[in-house]
Amino acid sequence: MKRLEDIKLDDKTVIVRCDLNVPMENGIITDDNRIIKSIPTIKYLYENAKSVVILSHLGRIKNKEDEKKNTLEPVCNYLSKRLNIDITFCTYLEDVKKVVSENKIVMLENTRFFDLDNNKESNNDLSLAKFFASLGDVFVNDAFGTAHRAHCSNVGVTQFVDTAVVGYLMQKEIDFLGNAVENPVRPFVAILGGAKVADKLNVISNLLEKCDTLIIGGGMAYTFLKAKGYEIGKSLVDDTKIDYCKEMMEKAEKLGKKLLLPVDSVVAAAF
Ligand code: 3PG
Repeated sequence: MKRLEDIKLDDKTVIVRCDLNVPMENGIITDDNRIIKSIPTIKYLYENAKSVVILSHLGRIKNKEDEKKNTLEPVCNYLSKRLNIDITFCTYLEDVKKVVSENKIVMLENTRFFDLDNNKESNNDLSLAKFFASLGDVFVNDAFGTAHRAHCSNVGVTQFVDTAVVGYLMQKEIDFLGNAVENPVRPFVAILGGAKVADKLNVISNLLEKCDTLIIGGGMAYTFLKAKGYEIGKSLVDDTKIDYCKEMMEKAEKLGKKLLLPVDSVVAAAF
């Protein structure tokens, strides 16, 4: 794994994939955590490279309505303000290559807008990957939150650039995860959350082997609770993963590990 410090950037245009998929309500960012976490890499690139092209997705794009709601422009403006620099926002209706060549730092519109054309971004379409790669000389992957996806802008693109490295956020998370999981201080307790069990199949199984206690929270806890036979009303559930959850609870018992689920859910008649 190559890191930012391993390469020279001075005369290079750098494409950086961030995960700026932040929650928004009516165009207002309601949690800027992912933007803030992306700043060290973007700032370093801005100060050390010839120019910078920022890529990210936002939301899921299935139709024109989704497209309207998920423009990255408010994120670009927010980042500009936080960094106190002008970031040029570029839509795909413009001559992207020209905009990139004429500006020091550019953010491209939501990479998933290409999903309206045969799911090109999400299906890792090679022609789109080539297009992203053609926008710079070096690729930096700092989109830790997207690392579980094999899409054009984080995976396909690496096939068409000579140099691909990880950014500071990705590096930090990999170092941290590697150490925490391989050389844990015991008792080692892992806490997992999120909506979907399906995204975390291997993680749950692997963590059970390494940790002493695994705490499962968030939406996915309800799939486990249903697997235990509880009524879960209209809570989030992934019915296709009930057997998997049962298997994991059996695995925990066999290994003598604790798998803890919430006991303090708030129950109401409606959301
Ligand atoms: C996330 O929030 O999990 C990442 O940004 C990936 O988004 P996705 O689940 O829509 O692929």
